[in-house]
Amino acid sequence: MEFKSISCAFDSLDLKMLKDAVKTKYKDATPLCYLHSYGCQQNVSDGEKLKGMIVKSGFSLTENEALADLIVINTCAVRENAHERVFGRLGELKHLKEKNKDLIICVCGCMVQQKHVADRIKNTYPHVSLVFGTFAYGDFYKMLYEVIVSGKRVFNIEEKQGEIAEDVLQVRSSSFKAYVSIMYGCNNFCTYCIVPYVRGRERSRSVDAIVDEVKGLVKDGYKEITLLGQNVNSYAYGFSELLRRLNDIEGDFWIRFMSSHPKDATSNLIDAIIDCDKVCSHLHLPVQSGNNDILKKMNRRYTVEKYLETVEYARRRCGDFSFSTDIIVGFPGESYEQFCDTKALLEKVKFDNVYSFVYSKREGTKAAELEDKVSVKQKGLWLRELLLMQREVTEKWLGRFVGKKLRVLTEDTGKQDGFLIGHSYENIVVEFPGDEKLIGSFVYVKITKAMNWALLGEISR
Ligand code: SAH
Ligand code: SF4
Ligand code: F3S
Repeated sequence: MEFKSISCAFDSLDLKMLKDAVKTKYKDATPLCYLHSYGCQQNVSDGEKLKGMIVKSGFSLTENEALADLIVINTCAVRENAHERVFGRLGELKHLKEKNKDLIICVCGCMVQQKHVADRIKNTYPHVSLVFGTFAYGDFYKMLYEVIVSGKRVFNIEEKQGEIAEDVLQVRSSSFKAYVSIMYGCNNFCTYCIVPYVRGRERSRSVDAIVDEVKGLVKDGYKEITLLGQNVNSYAYGFSELLRRLNDIEGDFWIRFMSSHPKDATSNLIDAIIDCDKVCSHLHLPVQSGNNDILKKMNRRYTVEKYLETVEYARRRCGDFSFSTDIIVGFPGESYEQFCDTKALLEKVKFDNVYSFVYSKREGTKAAELEDKVSVKQKGLWLRELLLMQREVTEKWLGRFVGKKLRVLTEDTGKQDGFLIGHSYENIVVEFPGDEKLIGSFVYVKITKAMNWALLGEISR
């Protein structure tokens, strides 16, 4: 894995002390670290920054957990199944710790920011040595030093809204696609959601810091820059203006971003996306439900009508403009009729992609106190119904691209032999025959067929 060594805001006496402690502990051998991030892109991006700090401390990275001296599990709290998966993993790691007493197991991120989770780890998983939440990345060197030198367990889930560290070394997993966090936290408190409780209030990076980072990435050959935030369009210094600034950077690259909140999706934002040729014509705009009463109970602060207005405005300006969304099925109190309103909305909008989830009760949120009569099994059936319907909608929507030439960033080898796969400017998955050498570069693809999840085509000059 390649990375560039740059100076880091966290570089300090702490790092020097940690590096010495690592050298003493592992003598001349280079210790290995395995890190896995669950959850959203924001969490993956945090994991990449942690990797940067770990490499600076003297570790090398490994993909093989069994060889690691340090295992870091970066967690997500958004739904119950994410939770249970992590506890399952921690149970398995006990065996590795029994084989290697020196193994350091660390759990960090959103899930452990919740006190009841940190307590459960403290009491039932004694083989876990280091636990820290989303506010403690800046203390990483100090915490790891303490674990190595004192052998004691360290827990740090204190909530603090510190400054955002700039110039952090980020070990990116791709050499052509890069995540750039532009803001952290969320102020919206949708009633079902744990994110504001585990990520704190909104903090935005400065325009200059973001522009500099993107310029550096483009210079290093990155082709796709994805701007990240829980709600990027509430970026404190103007999101549309930021897009316009980034669009002016010279180079052959494109920009994506996520997620946007429908309450702040203005015609101004749509105009910026359409006016800026480097900004892909796609908006991930999670609607959650197609029923106004449910949206109100979710505290989403928009109506179905306002949402449709945004979609219609974009499609009037650009017919191929694509939308993707998130849906929650079975919010407490939701009736089958209200669920059907969501299906009707999906038919109207014609999303290119729908990420749908059965509602999951999160301790500490407002919705957790609401009465919930529909069984999880029933909600699962509703979800299936929605997915089957959406498959047909997607196939119909994708049909409009047959015969057109789309710009695609080649990302990987495809499912069939000799095929490649990538996403188009409109965020549609495209498969086409081609040489693996094209991975990481832009191509034009003439579309020959639409399926219910992707397009097929041939490279065209
Ligand atoms: N900030 C983003 C979403 C972050 S969470 C936004 O507002 O769009 C990603 C998705 O997880 C949400 O859009 C929602 O659909 C889903 N989600 C969040 N909490 C959930 C819960 N308690 N149960 C089921 N799905 C949930
Ligand atoms: Fe959660 Fe709502 Fe914030 Fe998104 S906007 S992270 S769904 S509280
Ligand atoms: Fe999960 Fe935290 Fe992201 S809860 S979805 S990893 S912000």
